[in-house]
Amino acid sequence: MPIVKAVIPAAGLGTRFLPATKAMPKEMLPVVDKPAIQYVVEEAVGAGLTDVLMITGRNKNALENHFDRNTELESVLERKGDDRRLREVHQSTHLANMHYVRQRDPMGLGHAVLRANMHVGWEPFAVLLGDDIIDEREDLLRRMIEVHDKQPASIVALQEVDPSQVHLYGIATVEHTEDEGVVRVTDLVEKPSADDAPSNLAVIGRYVLQPEIFDALEKTTPGSGGEIQLTDALKDLATSGAGGGVMGVVFKGLRYDTGDRLDYLKAIVRVASNREDLGPDFRSWLHEFIGSEGRL
Ligand code: G1P
Repeated sequence: MPIVKAVIPAAGLGTRFLPATKAMPKEMLPVVDKPAIQYVVEEAVGAGLTDVLMITGRNKNALENHFDRNTELESVLERKGDDRRLREVHQSTHLANMHYVRQRDPMGLGHAVLRANMHVGWEPFAVLLGDDIIDEREDLLRRMIEVHDKQPASIVALQEVDPSQVHLYGIATVEHTEDEGVVRVTDLVEKPSADDAPSNLAVIGRYVLQPEIFDALEKTTPGSGGEIQLTDALKDLATSGAGGGVMGVVFKGLRYDTGDRLDYLKAIVRVASNREDLGPDFRSWLHEFIGSEGRL
């Protein structure tokens, strides 16, 4: 069965970005000229997923509005003959079939994914976390779907991180397979200390999940941070083998983390530097700026 559904959890309170996120969801923070969430939806669509379910919470109306029509804005741009901006306004409207469900109680990522059960039904689906933007030139999600097509299992994206960062991620124990860059995940632990981490292979925010994850989530009790963790349910699948167990695709490409303020600033600089339109001017300015020790 081809995978067509993407689930994007977007119910977090965004407290790390207050006051910007007091009345606006953190997913709407722009990375250059697009809200972070649009990159993620574009990535899902680029990998062939046509149905997007966002798990939202209070204060998230801006998300629905962003992926809906804005007829007033459209008619102003039409009157002005501003085709380029009109195309940009249309783009987010016509990307995918968008659906929304509210999480109500923010009880963790696992709990958010469980809210997708009714919409997804009993079929494999992808989960994309909004804090991670994968460069549009990469094809991580498509590769994960290919691995799933070959051998049905739940698939996580893994990236090597500095040992000082392991406490921020789900960390995997893996065995190598014959496929270059594809591993079998034998165990997982959510946010271990550097001393307890079994490796430095971190789960980054892309998953292709077998529907058996819903059964595992139903029985998952609160874990790290008192929340229902997706990692704990995946550990259950990895150790029991349910749904074909868990495989990992090791990613070595460009990922932009927007999860906290410093990473968000770095993401903007990196995305802007890589842009064809703004990149050349921005890079040369950046060079001068650094040379001036921040006094330019
Ligand atoms: C979540 C997951 C964690 C994963 C991370 C990737 O954590 O719980 O396993 O490694 O996303 O970004 P969060 O960043 O929401 O704390």
